[in-house]
Amino acid sequence: MTPHATPKLTPLGSSQSPRSPPAQAEPLQDLSEDQVEGPSVADEDFDEGLFGDGDSAYDTSDDATDSASLNSSIMRFREENGRTYHSFGGSTDHWGPNDEMAQDQQDISHHFWTLMLHGELYLAPIKNPQVVLDVGTGTGIWAIDVADKHPEAFVKGTDVSPIQPTWTPPNAKFEMDDFNVDWNYTDKFDLIHERELLGSVTSWPKFYDRAFKALKPGGWIDCSEPGLYFESFYDTLGPDHPYKTWGTCMLEAGNNAGMSFDVGPYIKQRLEDAGFINVVEKKVCCTIGKWSKDMHERETGLWEQLRLERGVQDFCQRRFMNNLGWSAAEVSVFGARMRAAVKNNRLLAHHWFYFVVGQKPL
Ligand SMILES: C[S@@+](CC[C@H](N)C(=O)[O-])C[C@H]1O[C@@H](n2cnc3c(N)ncnc32)[C@H](O)[C@@H]1O
Repeated sequence: MTPHATPKLTPLGSSQSPRSPPAQAEPLQDLSEDQVEGPSVADEDFDEGLFGDGDSAYDTSDDATDSASLNSSIMRFREENGRTYHSFGGSTDHWGPNDEMAQDQQDISHHFWTLMLHGELYLAPIKNPQVVLDVGTGTGIWAIDVADKHPEAFVKGTDVSPIQPTWTPPNAKFEMDDFNVDWNYTDKFDLIHERELLGSVTSWPKFYDRAFKALKPGGWIDCSEPGLYFESFYDTLGPDHPYKTWGTCMLEAGNNAGMSFDVGPYIKQRLEDAGFINVVEKKVCCTIGKWSKDMHERETGLWEQLRLERGVQDFCQRRFMNNLGWSAAEVSVFGARMRAAVKNNRLLAHHWFYFVVGQKPL
């Protein structure tokens, strides 16, 4: 290890640390290694001097896609600042664009989420679900993978954006539907999946009540959400760091819009409040970039870096402009600072992820 690098790597004292012990999780499909400690920094990263800016195993020069042409169906959507958004008459405006660039980012994210679960598509301990619902399905990639894996199951994906492919497995179906208004299902599904709906739900208690009603007795809800904050166990983020601005402004923007981005830590309690039993939370720390010693964490860290780099401006642009009053130029500058931070492995930054499952009683 390079001697001069060592002092930077002293973890903060526990009183300053953003760590909080995860809930006592029971093993779920042998995937239950809750992580209490932060990842260990790989020695070779210091030896190899890999902390230079832009250290990545992937090509990050994606700016050319800014001018990606929009096909005719996408032109039907609403356009703001050069990006398209859904125009389905739902109760709320989703924060994220739905054009090709955004869809590519969602598909990269899907690979990342699956890697986080070591190749599994969900954590709920249900082997052969027959009727599955994926709410806020996005590009539908999760629903399609589940339909492929369980050809005997029927999988429905719903969203306010009609961006799902028309060519799908015969047992997968997509529908336009708004999850913020009443759901027309009672005792119907074996498994309900929701992933990355932070900042899109007007009332989580109502959302979980609706899911509870829609599940068959004994059915499972499976929730996956990222934490809102980007942090470091090491003293690398000053008060003016864009990650700090991110946390403060995303929290305020989401609250102003009436749909919080800070949801992960509250899922477990909310599921219990809604009447779910056997609720288990698995809280996993993911590095941003490949700075961990652990090979799996290095891989997830790289994919996290890629999906954030592609997505971070999309996550905040609409909310910062419409709900905080930022100008397009301000968002653009902030987006560039965030992308630079995401690519900077020297920050030894991390991001928590929440996987929570619960069962409707028999
Ligand atoms: C960040 S994407 C996640 C997509 C997908 N769950 C995944 O993980 O790949 C959020 C999705 O929620 C959808 N969404 C937002 N508000 C919605 C609403 N009120 N009803 C249905 N879908 C909604 C968006 O259109 C978008 O496709």
